[in-house]
Amino acid sequence: MITELAPAKINLALHVRARRADGYHELETLFAFVVDGDTVTLAPGPLSLAITGPFAAGLSGEGDNLILRAARAFATAFSLPEIGAFTLDKHLPVASGIGGGSADAAAALRALAKANAIRLDDPRLFDLAAALGSDVPACLLGRTALGEGRGERLHPLDGPVGMPTLLVNPGVAVSTAAVFKGWDGVDRGAMPDGDALSLALAGRNDLEAPARRLAPVIDDVLTELGGGNPILARMSGSGATCFALYASAADRAAAAARIRAAQPSWWCLETRLA
Ligand code: C5P
Repeated sequence: MITELAPAKINLALHVRARRADGYHELETLFAFVVDGDTVTLAPGPLSLAITGPFAAGLSGEGDNLILRAARAFATAFSLPEIGAFTLDKHLPVASGIGGGSADAAAALRALAKANAIRLDDPRLFDLAAALGSDVPACLLGRTALGEGRGERLHPLDGPVGMPTLLVNPGVAVSTAAVFKGWDGVDRGAMPDGDALSLALAGRNDLEAPARRLAPVIDDVLTELGGGNPILARMSGSGATCFALYASAADRAAAAARIRAAQPSWWCLETRLA
């Protein structure tokens, strides 16, 4: 049996540069990961998927689940039979801008690669990942990186490992496609050069404005996070999850305690950058 962590992904910055003819958008994004997430377990057996955990109810284990699609694509690419009894322990909110399904698919690919003695840096794995979704290659890499194209052209960077981080989701699922559709088409400029933290501080998330129009509660999340002395508070991906980075674990704990008291129904994860 192989167990892989599927850590939550954060977009420390996400610059949308252009709408492409194929319906996707040209991005520059700074991916980072935290140390917590879902777990994906692979055991021998026919292809199947069981889903457990606090966010299991939001998901179906049916054929279109990204883990099963990843397993089928893996079997085809490496000429192997479709096997593997997967269990997904779902701890991250669904459709929430922190990778979720992409992280799970990447974890499934890592587990399958290990089970079949395929190197984790095999370019065929990254091709499979890119075909499954724009964020899956970054999740397969699983470390701080600049992403270009749809997010699949990756340049690893050193990140502020261990930095105290808070993730907050108000319980509203947002459609990534709808948020991208709401982008106003204005190119607000390239990512500057620099280390990951200065890029994050100088950057922005261009999907924040359209996501806030679709889900105004994101304004409340950012206001709450901004009040707790963060180094940076911003929405991740297409939302609705927002993150904040802190100088100390004490600052993070104080912010989490305040938000949990004010908004007991929100999901609030105290974690740190990986
Ligand atoms: O690649 P993925 O399936 O995760 O993307 C979901 C949707 O988000 C796409 O169908 C597209 O509408 C939008 N998208 C985009 N540009 C990107 C990534 C995603 O327009 N770079």
